[in-house]
Amino acid sequence: MNIQELNEHFQHHYGDSAEALRAFYAPGRVNLLGDHTDYNGGLVLPSAIDYGTTLLVRRRSDKVVKLASRNFNLVAFLSAGELQQKYADHWINYPLGVIDQFRQRGIDIAGLDLLYSGDIPNGAGLSSSASVEVVTAFAINSLFELGLDALTLVQMAQAAENDFVGVNCGIMDQYASAMGQVGHVMKLDCGSLACEQVPVELGDFSFLIVNSNQRRELTESKYNERFSESRAALDVLQQSESVETLAQATLEQLQTHQEALGDMLYRRARHVVSEHNAVKKAAELLRNNDLVQFGALMDQSHVSMRDDYETSTSVLDALVDISRRQMGVLGARLTGAGFGGCVVVLIESAELPEFQKFVAQEYKDSTGLSADFYPVSLADGARELSA
Ligand code: GLA
Repeated sequence: MNIQELNEHFQHHYGDSAEALRAFYAPGRVNLLGDHTDYNGGLVLPSAIDYGTTLLVRRRSDKVVKLASRNFNLVAFLSAGELQQKYADHWINYPLGVIDQFRQRGIDIAGLDLLYSGDIPNGAGLSSSASVEVVTAFAINSLFELGLDALTLVQMAQAAENDFVGVNCGIMDQYASAMGQVGHVMKLDCGSLACEQVPVELGDFSFLIVNSNQRRELTESKYNERFSESRAALDVLQQSESVETLAQATLEQLQTHQEALGDMLYRRARHVVSEHNAVKKAAELLRNNDLVQFGALMDQSHVSMRDDYETSTSVLDALVDISRRQMGVLGARLTGAGFGGCVVVLIESAELPEFQKFVAQEYKDSTGLSADFYPVSLADGARELSA
């Protein structure tokens, strides 16, 4: 939906007002390498994509907050006293979590009409929720002239998800949504928050996202389970090693403590350490335009998520295997939290039509599901649009 149509929808929904109407946008992200490393203090390699959430917003003279979305049915009219309330499994927890973060800083956020509209497939691991959080944080910061910097807004968006929604996510998604730069990936150290924007010359190649359309079930609880397992592995290591995060450990240290860790925690830790190392290598490869080796790292990363971190599913494995067999594919892996969702493929652009044709058919034959294809470009992060 373009901004003009959204504008009309807003007027229709909320009526006229003398207050200015403003528009903000925050994209989703694709993570190219380094999953489940962020909350372990490790490196990630995401990029913002050209799919995202647009928010139209206007101040109100009373203290009511009205929330509506073009993507979901529920519309909420909340008085100031109702803003801390949570809604089971509901999208409005994302904006409410962000509003709550401002309130925790003593900033009274009330009196708003908000209309969201997004084109990121939901629950597909492309951070539609982070884009809603980030666009809300950016909009409120600007509307109330708070002057908070982008990193603070990112941290508030992450805290909204941790504290209000109840998912122990790391900072990657919110960071990528806010800080993306067109044509670049971010090599972000989630321990120090040092970030390098790495230019990517794709030449004759493209990144393609393939949505498995496998319903992500129990994702939040499984995600939090992996979070706890990583903490448990770190606890074991810290009994004899001076590491502050799992990503600081070496593969040798893990081997030394293999018995104390036990099979499962050892594999969890091995995934985190090897993914962290892979991102280090990957950034170098991208700088040297070595897409072939980069693709090989994507493949290895999928194996690590499948066997060690166990965030893949048989359906995602099938999609990755089918994708890899196609002409012109340099690498394929699941992207994001896993347990369903999307695969990202690095492919020769000329092969895209054939790829889609064959993968759609083979995937349907082997799983009964239909895949969706999203060619993506590496895009800019959150910003204000002209309303
Ligand atoms: C989700 C979380 C991120 C990150 C990824 C896995 O997207 O929100 O913080 O942990 O999973 O890499």
